[in-house]
Amino acid sequence: MDDMDSRKAPRGVRDILPVESWKWAYVLNTAAGVMTHFGYSEIHLPVFEHTELFTRGVGDATDIVEKEMYTFTDRGGRSLTLRPEATAGMVRASLEHGLCGDLSRGQNGKLWCWGPMFRYERPQKGRYRQFFQIDVECLGLPSPVADVEVIALSAEMFRRLGLKNLEVVVNSVGCPKCRPQYREALISHFTSRKEGLCETCLGRLERNPLRVLDCKKPECSAIANDAPAVYGRLCEECAGHFEEVKAGLTRLNFPYRLDKRLVRGLDYYTKTAYEILSGDLGAQNAVCGGGRYDNLSESIGGPPMAGVGFAAGIDRIVMVMEQQGVSFGEKPRPQVYVVAQDGAGSCPEARNAAQVLTHRLRTKGIAAEQDGGDASHAARSFKAQMKSAGSVGATWACIIGPEELEKKLITVKNLQTGEQAPVPFEDVESHLA
Ligand code: HAM
Repeated sequence: MDDMDSRKAPRGVRDILPVESWKWAYVLNTAAGVMTHFGYSEIHLPVFEHTELFTRGVGDATDIVEKEMYTFTDRGGRSLTLRPEATAGMVRASLEHGLCGDLSRGQNGKLWCWGPMFRYERPQKGRYRQFFQIDVECLGLPSPVADVEVIALSAEMFRRLGLKNLEVVVNSVGCPKCRPQYREALISHFTSRKEGLCETCLGRLERNPLRVLDCKKPECSAIANDAPAVYGRLCEECAGHFEEVKAGLTRLNFPYRLDKRLVRGLDYYTKTAYEILSGDLGAQNAVCGGGRYDNLSESIGGPPMAGVGFAAGIDRIVMVMEQQGVSFGEKPRPQVYVVAQDGAGSCPEARNAAQVLTHRLRTKGIAAEQDGGDASHAARSFKAQMKSAGSVGATWACIIGPEELEKKLITVKNLQTGEQAPVPFEDVESHLA
């Protein structure tokens, strides 16, 4: 166990500091714009749910449920779990509130959310125990048009964010009708090469042979590469669906790669599975993953309800953007720095007027800062304040000293050009364009 130092965050979780948080805001704002254009509404879900939602929804033979959940008993004796992902909660909320199918109330089943997810995984670059996802779900639509829409939405989000060097990887994992046959083919293949498999895969062989396809260990990878592909084994419905998805992606000009080994780590998937991979992330290279899950609703006790969606890791998106030198737009900064020239304390009225002007500008929607309102100590010299105005990146300095007070003026200085002019106190805003 790691040191329990209460002055430090627990292993695998981190603070998103101001140097980074404005970049997150940019990513989320961009994502929100894309959601609007694709017709998805934002929803806020609880961060914990009944444990059973995940054991039944995500599947109890998955790594998530077997070893990664933060589960606790509350004071009322209920078993609750910090959400390891959002899809099960989305489906639960949709069933609980009838969010799908009532178009007149704007409930088209197209939902998105963002927030922290929790998994007890081994921390490494791009992998945390508390991480953030943008999650998108399209509920109630069994058509392959929905799969294509969801994949296109994720790709469009990354395009607008400016991410480069991405690859869309697609597969089908079939359905309960055709999967048993494929499972058998896999079990037979892997059993014949059993001695080459790692411990974990040996354990998965009977229970979840599809996951062996996913193993990254070189010894298993070689055996998985030779494994039979799902394609000839899909039932007519799944095969037809897959053809439509691929045709749709081609129609929309999205290049993709087929990967017969892409099975995803959650048990609810049926038909389409996909990921978007970054060439700049190392081992944890998926910026987004998703697929169709037409049986999830029933597995948590609901009526049949189709669904398809994806989740993208915000931590990873920001990491890739930083690595690729992609712009996050303009960093928020004060437009104006109000400087009080108080003659070494001999003119407290200048400081009072600076306080009044700063507040007035802020209430007019102009980002303004003042001495003592930033990280500085209050009552600094004129020179120190002017230096701060430069360091915080302000465009303008509004200077108030005894002379300005007397004439009811403000000296407005453009910090980029160095030009300055006296402006009537009431008129400052109109000179800050
Ligand atoms: P997932 O593949 O487990 O899918 O996670 C989706 C994305 O979340 C990953 O591609 C990655 O970017 C990010 N992510 C996952 N685990 C971590 C971690 N430990 N640290 C940092 N980032 C991480 C799901 O969660 C499904 N619910 C996606 C989905 C939605 N399928 C259908 N609808």
